[in-house]
Formats: sequence, C-alpha cells, structure tokens
Amino acid sequence: LEQEGLSAAAAAASTAEIEAVRVEYLGRKSALKRALREVRERETGMALNAVRERLEAAIDARAAALARAELDARLTSERVDVTLPVDGYRRGRLHLITQIRREVEDVFLGLGYRVVDGREVETTRYNFDGLNFPPGHPARSPLATLFLDDETVLRTETSPSQIRTMEAQQPPVYIVSLGRTYRRDTPDATHSPIFHQVEGLAVDEGITLADLTGTLDFLLKKLFGEQRRTEFRTHYFPFTEPSIEAYVSCHVCDGDGCPVCRHSGWIEVGGAGMVDPKLFEFVGYDPERVTGFAFGWGLERIAMLRHEFPDLRELWRNDLRFSRQF
Ligand code: PHE
Repeated sequence: LEQEGLSAAAAAASTAEIEAVRVEYLGRKSALKRALREVRERETGMALNAVRERLEAAIDARAAALARAELDARLTSERVDVTLPVDGYRRGRLHLITQIRREVEDVFLGLGYRVVDGREVETTRYNFDGLNFPPGHPARSPLATLFLDDETVLRTETSPSQIRTMEAQQPPVYIVSLGRTYRRDTPDATHSPIFHQVEGLAVDEGITLADLTGTLDFLLKKLFGEQRRTEFRTHYFPFTEPSIEAYVSCHVCDGDGCPVCRHSGWIEVGGAGMVDPKLFEFVGYDPERVTGFAFGWGLERIAMLRHEFPDLRELWRNDLRFSRQF
C-alpha cells in the first residue's frame, strides 16, 4: 500500500491530481485510515502511523513542487513587459478615392437618389450612339478611346449608365453611378488612362436648370465646405442642352499669386447640363412629358482640388506617407 501510494504521488502531474491522490491514500475513507481506526495492537498502530507520515511527507513535497511549477508557468505566460515602447496603434483607412466616392453616394442617398452600377466594358451603342455623339466625333477614334473590338470599348465616361438606367425603368429617375472610366491618355500629373467619375441623372416632370444648379451647389458645399461659393458657365456636351461647367470658389486666394486657381478665383470642377431630348427619344421616353438634368465629374479631380496636391499619380502610387494624410 505504501509503495502504491508513493508511486501514485510521484506520478501526479498537477496540483489537482496530487490532491486526488491525497484523498485516495490519506482521506477519511482510505484503506490506511480505516486500518488505523480498527487497529488494536500498539506495534501495528505505530507501523501504520509511520506509513502515514511517510506518505504525507511524500504527498506534501510533491504538491509543493507542482504548485511552484504551476505558478511559474502562469507568471511566464501572463508576463507583461511594461517597459516596452508603444508602437503606435496602426489603424487602416480607406483610399482617398473610396472616401470621396462614399461621401458622394451618401449625399445623394440623403436626397433620395439610388446608387446604380454601370459597366466598365461598354458597347459603342451606349458609350456613343445613345449619348448623341455624331459619327465623326473625335472620341470615337481609337486614338482617344480604348477599343476591345469594333463595337466594344472601355467606357470613356460614366454617362452610358444614363442610357442603361432609362432603358430599364420609367421616369421619375433619380440615380447616381460611380466607377472607373478609361481613356487613351498618357499618364502625367493631370491625366491617367484609368480614372473615376460620378454620374448623376434626374428625370421627372418639370425638372429645370435651377434644380441642376441647386443640386450641384449642395454637392459642392458638402464636398468642399459650406463657405464656398459656386458658379456655372456655359459649355458643350453632345448629350446635354444647354450644357454647363461647374466652378467652386478658390479659397486660397482672391487674386494674385494663387497656386490653385491661377489667379482667377474660380476652380473648374466638371460638366453638367439638361438632358438632350434626343436621349429621351433613344430610350423611348416622351420628351414632351419629362425633362432632366445630368452631371459627370472626375473623382481624382475633386480629390486634387480639395486636398491641393498637384499630381494625381500619387493616388496610384500607394505610398503610405501620402495615403495616411487622408
Ligand atoms: N460625360 C462628361 C465627361 O466625361 C461629363 C458630363 C456628364 C457632362 C453628364 C454633362 C452631363 O466629360
């Protein structure tokens, strides 16, 4: 019995196990305790007591060793070095273009518009014909546009989503469509063969140019700040009539020596206009019943104007020293 108890004590691998051994060999119901209770002769009693003491000593020693080992393991695993320098809490962020894209979406969702997807690979029917580009228009040239085959292009603007949306639903239409656009340009500080646009389209009964300028004024103030002023000048696009270009006031200067607006006081943001009735005919809307406005702006351009950096290629370089600023 003593040998059994000693080897059980030695085999115990944790404080829980050694306490179980203690109960089994020294507990009130253990064989040893029962024998001690029943013993009559002094000799036998002394011998049993000696066994109990040796067992107790062995179990105590093993229990103490196991407790020390467990404490050591816990202290090591829970150790915190409070002297380590803090390595800043690095939080990720969205790319500036993604941020602006979501800002614009939020502005228009707040105005009750829907956000719709367009296609980056378009047919010339949607990229040019439906938008009233005449046959010899320079944008139809493979020198200006990336053709995949005779009638398939990488869209040169988000405007084809106007045609697709109107073909798919009846008025009223209030949508924005944001995404990548492609042109056959050599990259430089202000050009990229891939860039992003936001397209807006509103078609309803009685939409006027004042609705367009009011909406763009609202958008520009959300993007650039409430203190900015806006201005609209006439322009030309094949798919809007009249066409306008939106300007936002330059806050850097009021005249001389301005790096942002080149002394004019105004910054050109992008194109817009009243939907040409020819587009309504193309999609089967009644031009006598509805009018509409549309606009299409470059997101890189908005980013550069708002944050005043001179080279849009920064947006593609992904240098964290640049990206982390926004
Ligand atoms: N699609 C035009 C461009 O890329 C912008 C535009 C969109 C103008 C909608 C008027 C209406 O320059």
